Amino acid sequence: MDLSGKRIILGLTGGIACYKSAELLRRMQDQGATVDVVMTEAATRFITPATLQALSGRPVWVDAWDERMDNRMAHINLTRGADAVLVAPASTDFLARTAHGLADDLLTTLCVARGAVPLLVAPAMNHEMWTH
Ligand SMILES: Cc1cc2nc3c(=O)[nH]c(=O)nc-3n(C[C@H](O)[C@H](O)[C@H](O)COP(=O)(O)O)c2cc1C
Repeated sequence: MDLSGKRIILGLTGGIACYKSAELLRRMQDQGATVDVVMTEAATRFITPATLQALSGRPVWVDAWDERMDNRMAHINLTRGADAVLVAPASTDFLARTAHGLADDLLTTLCVARGAVPLLVAPAMNHEMWTH
């Protein structure tokens, strides 16, 4: 897939499959995409922001109140002009919160506020969690 000129927001949530997201990021870059990474707090327990920052060459975002963003509006600014939001892995918790329109961290707030930017999710959990 040619992703030249595309900007993708890659969201990571708290699951074992976070280890795959580094490779996913790399593959999207290989196809020409610019990737901005947004992580939940739980995701940072599985893979470090430093790893994803080094691979993406861009700041990694976790905190909705991050002072690096001039107007503190990371949840608005990041999706402006983005081509897609891809959440991989998407936890049970993230799916439930987003389905109900909750916005209690940067990633879910960004999803709620993204307007027409497509949202793609890659659910990753064990069978029991998925069927629940
Ligand atoms: C060791 C461990 C592994 C976990 N693996 C998963 C997983 O693969 N998928 C999942 O949906 N939740 C998994 N969880 C539960 C989530 O991390 C937990 O629900 C967390 O609150 C998700 O937060 P988030 O949605 O904000 O990222 C795991 C928890 C632990 C402690």
